[in-house]
Amino acid sequence: MGDIDWDGLREVAVEAMRKAYVPYSRFPVGVAAIVDDGRVISGCNVENASYGLTLCAECTLVSTLVMTGGGKLVAFTCVDGDGGALMPCGRCRQLLYEHSAEGMLLETVSGIRTIDEVIPDAFGPRTLAVYHEEREPA
Ligand code: THU
Repeated sequence: MGDIDWDGLREVAVEAMRKAYVPYSRFPVGVAAIVDDGRVISGCNVENASYGLTLCAECTLVSTLVMTGGGKLVAFTCVDGDGGALMPCGRCRQLLYEHSAEGMLLETVSGIRTIDEVIPDAFGPRTLAVYHEEREPA
């Protein structure tokens, strides 16, 4: 995974950021990711007059991931309106974790980090699987 074109991925995120629907916060966000089959996907935030219903850019990215064939995310970047690195919010780290490949890399405000570094000891699909395996052995 050392051969990731972070500059190229950031450009895709900036392109997505320009599509953001942000009449309320006026804080556009763009995200882009590489999927384990080589696809490059992106997303932007989509706000709502009922503020709490706002979709973060990561939500639209994850929807796109599923709608275009699924797979696991291997690299991810998130930019603000100036194209600078932006840290995904806590909820979105959880969203990304669900669909992350082992060792997924994120470009962050403090450099390249793994998904486990940005959401340590995460609750996830494995937590549920272990719980059920203990109660319903195969
Ligand atoms: N936002 C994102 O799209 N992703 C994040 O990870 C952080 C926050 C959006 C939501 C809202 O439209 C705007 O940024 C300001 O909070």
